[in-house]
This record gives sequence, C-alpha cells and structure tokens, in this order.
Amino acid sequence: MDNDIQEVLYDQESIQKAAERLGKQITQDYAGSTPLFLSVLKGAYLWTADLLREVDLYAELEFIKISSYHGGVSSSDEITLVTDVRSDVRGRDVIILEDIVDTGQSLLFLKELLAKRGAKSIKVATLLDKIEGRKVEVDADYAGFNVRNEFVVGYGLDYEEHYRNLPYVGILKKEVYTK
Ligand code: PRP
Ligand code: MN
Ligand code: MG
Repeated sequence: MDNDIQEVLYDQESIQKAAERLGKQITQDYAGSTPLFLSVLKGAYLWTADLLREVDLYAELEFIKISSYHGGVSSSDEITLVTDVRSDVRGRDVIILEDIVDTGQSLLFLKELLAKRGAKSIKVATLLDKIEGRKVEVDADYAGFNVRNEFVVGYGLDYEEHYRNLPYVGILKKEVYTK
C-alpha cells in the first residue's frame, strides 16, 4: 500500500498531537455538559477512537453512516443515509466527528438532519478540513489540519474502500486512480 502514496502529509505522531489539542479544547468548551459524539462512518472510525480518548467528559457515542462518494475520487451531490442513529438527539449538544470536510455536502446534510430533530447545539470536529473543496457554505468548528486540495487517503479515508487502514494520511498517486 505504501507504494501507492506520493507523499505522507500527517503521520501517526502529528495526528496524535492534533487529537490531544482538540480533545483538551472540547473538554474545556463542554465542561458541565454531556455531549453526544456522532461519529460518521466509515471514514471517522480511527479519528473517533483517538480523539475521544483525549476528551475528559461524561459523553456518549453514537454512529451514523452516510455515503457521498459512490466510488471514484470526487464526491457526488447525492448523500444517502445508510444507517441512522439509534438514540434521540433532541435537546442534546451534538459533536459530529468527521475524518474530512471537503465539499461540505455531507456535513450540511447532517447538520440539517440534526437541527430538524431538535438538537440543542451542533458542532463538528474533523481531522482534516479541505477548505478549497467547499461547494456549500459550512464551517468546521474544530479541525486538526487544513489539508491541501489533493486526493488524500489513509487513517480512515478511502479510495474505493481501500487504504482506510494506513496509519497516516497521504496523497494518493494519480496513476492509481487514472489507470
Ligand atoms: C467521505 C468523508 C466525509 C465526506 C466528506 O465519506 O469520510 O464523510 O466524504 O466529503 P464532502 O465534504 O464532499 O461531503 P464517504 O462518503 O466517502 O463515505 P466513507 O466515510 O464511508 O468513506
Ligand atoms: Mn465519510
Ligand atoms: Mg469514502
């Protein structure tokens, strides 16, 4: 797998530092609250595990599964809700956990869904924020890194379901997806 990577952007150590930094910030900001972390599968699975271990709060964890990339390297406009949350979000302080905010369409979809269901507050903690990729207006409240406008994989992020298990985030070689 490493052979398919053009450049490593964020290694395990720098991701761990980002988790510590954001975990501390969230712990301070949500003091006295019991937030509901909503992890967006599949991409956020590692970030969820690493970030939540740095949060010192009574908190709950739920998973939701949506899909925007239907294969390929560009996200589609159509978001599908694949697996819904099991608990009620009404009146809760929700923190969405994402691996990346790119066009912003997935995040906007989720924020609208949670608002409709009566969440008290909705924020997002993402490992990567690809600001240049935005197609809709939505901001990340907590971001580990502002990532370059390149197709990145690893640490949860996939290309056609592969590379999620790389322990770092890197740029995928163009020849991998143009052949
Ligand atoms: C990816 C990524 C984010 C979303 C970001 O998920 O994990 O959830 O796309 O893209 P956007 O800002 O352009 O909407 P994907 O739909 O590929 O599903 P996955 O997490 O299962 O890989
Ligand atoms: Mn995702
Ligand atoms: Mg994907």
